[in-house]
Amino acid sequence: MDITIRRAGPADEAVCARLVYDAFKDVSERHGFTSGFATVEVARRVVRVFLGLDAMWSGAAEVDGRVVGSIFYDEGDPIHGVALVSVDPGTQRRGIGRRLMEAALARATNAAGVRLIQEAFNVHALGLYTSLGFEVKAPLARIVGHPGPVPPGVAVRTICREDVDECDRLYVRVQGWSRRVDPRDALGDFTGYAALRDGRIVACTYVLYAGVVAWAVAETDDDMMALLAGVRAAVRGPVGVNAPTGTAFFRRCLGLGFRVEKPLTLMARGGWRESRGSYLPSGIY
Ligand SMILES: CC(C)(COP(=O)(O)OP(=O)(O)OC[C@H]1O[C@@H](n2cnc3c(N)ncnc32)[C@H](O)[C@@H]1OP(=O)(O)O)[C@@H](O)C(=O)NCCC(=O)NCCS
Repeated sequence: MDITIRRAGPADEAVCARLVYDAFKDVSERHGFTSGFATVEVARRVVRVFLGLDAMWSGAAEVDGRVVGSIFYDEGDPIHGVALVSVDPGTQRRGIGRRLMEAALARATNAAGVRLIQEAFNVHALGLYTSLGFEVKAPLARIVGHPGPVPPGVAVRTICREDVDECDRLYVRVQGWSRRVDPRDALGDFTGYAALRDGRIVACTYVLYAGVVAWAVAETDDDMMALLAGVRAAVRGPVGVNAPTGTAFFRRCLGLGFRVEKPLTLMARGGWRESRGSYLPSGIY
């Protein structure tokens, strides 16, 4: 089978959205879970944003002139991220996913490391990524629930691009590497929030839709909880996050009544450092 990998662009939006929708629905339902992409239109909204980002390399796999796979590779910040690797369920297990991953990873020469999140029930992806040099770093769970009220002494407000430098200094302190291109780009499409103590940003995030939080970083678990409480108040509904399960923060969320939706795994290749604060990964890392 002749597989060609090429760069994907805006003209591929519909076909990539269909692939993402079909691939995630197939694997989720085979394991008794619900796909994160409820409709093709939901997948299309995400694909449209990704295809429009300069920081994202988008790849398409073609067989006999037909697009049968796609991948998104975030290369804007020192740590790169892999997202939404998708192969048409009818042509899986024939080496297409591996070729897409290899094409993306060929771009990692200057990366401090590459990371991804995979659904823990997906043994196929776990084997594929491990064979490409990724290691499991943290078990996660997608959880949804209602944090309590914002505690006294903390203010939560929306952020704009002028806040990105301060947010990035926090991110570097907690996570070890800069991540500023991602929020700078995201604030064009999504609303960002920060928690402040004594006028200082101690936690920040941005919200993808409803209460679904991208990544969030905070000095302490208390600051993270205050931030999520502020997001909850702003969106007037539950918040959804990817929480590392081996943490007091995860237990605290479950104690507040959060429900677990699915197990996830954070995998990394290259540069890795344990968090020195409180961190909730996005769907990429
Ligand atoms: C994950 C996905 C992209 C892989 O694409 P694919 O084209 O089917 O994968 P490939 O044929 O290139 O890779 C096969 C590799 O998977 C691994 N693999 C498959 N099943 C495995 C198992 N049970 N145990 C261990 N490894 C396994 C092997 O490394 C295998 O490589 P090999 O055939 O050279 O030994 C595809 O299955 C998909 O679209 N799934 C649904 C969406 C999804 O889950 N995406 C990933 C999100 S993190």
